[in-house]
Amino acid sequence: MKITFYGHSSLGIEVNDVTILVDPFITGNPKAAHININQLEADYIFVTHAHQDHLLDVENIAKRTGAIVVSNFEIVTHFEKLGIEGHPMNHGGQWDFEFGNVKYVTAIHSSSFPDGSYGGQPGGFVIEGEHKNIYIAGDTALTFDMKLIALQTKLDLAILPIGDNFTMGINDAILASDFVQCDKVLGCHFDTFGYIEINHDEAKQTFFEKGKDLMLLEIGESIEL
Ligand code: NI
Ligand code: MN
Repeated sequence: MKITFYGHSSLGIEVNDVTILVDPFITGNPKAAHININQLEADYIFVTHAHQDHLLDVENIAKRTGAIVVSNFEIVTHFEKLGIEGHPMNHGGQWDFEFGNVKYVTAIHSSSFPDGSYGGQPGGFVIEGEHKNIYIAGDTALTFDMKLIALQTKLDLAILPIGDNFTMGINDAILASDFVQCDKVLGCHFDTFGYIEINHDEAKQTFFEKGKDLMLLEIGESIEL
């Protein structure tokens, strides 16, 4: 499994010859100006919730690639009206896709579309594929529900928001990593705008002191699991 960071909460995940894009917000992120969305491949686009900073580039990329949008019922319905194919899910549900199993899990946040209309409840994803299991938390507060994930899945990586203000900050992300029983964390939702700027060295050191590994990738950088 290969994971590429495209800035903010945007990711590319390659698993079993399938490419999944997650929360593409690239053209709206000046820090990701070197990423050309017209060159991104996608078989699926996973959307955690309806906020602009998670779905800005979904329509454009889905129409070019024919990618299937996987999200909550309300978000999938929204994109189906635009002629985009979707796979609706809701909390606690899982599905065997060609590349592996996906569960849509709880997140504590909000989820209105940019025009203010209802975007369903926000979520995260647990993806099991290629003998690697990852948790994409989405925008969320720390929540006890995260403990449920560890009851069913042995995670290899937890992708957690760490920018604070709108989501968990560093200290809550460390507790989240305890809750999901995964000490390997990829940070997201930081530095994109003023409210969520973090000190990278301090963040990594704080994780390190708790016996955990916080990875902060450059935009465009990849890791192999
Ligand atoms: Ni959000
Ligand atoms: Mn967000």
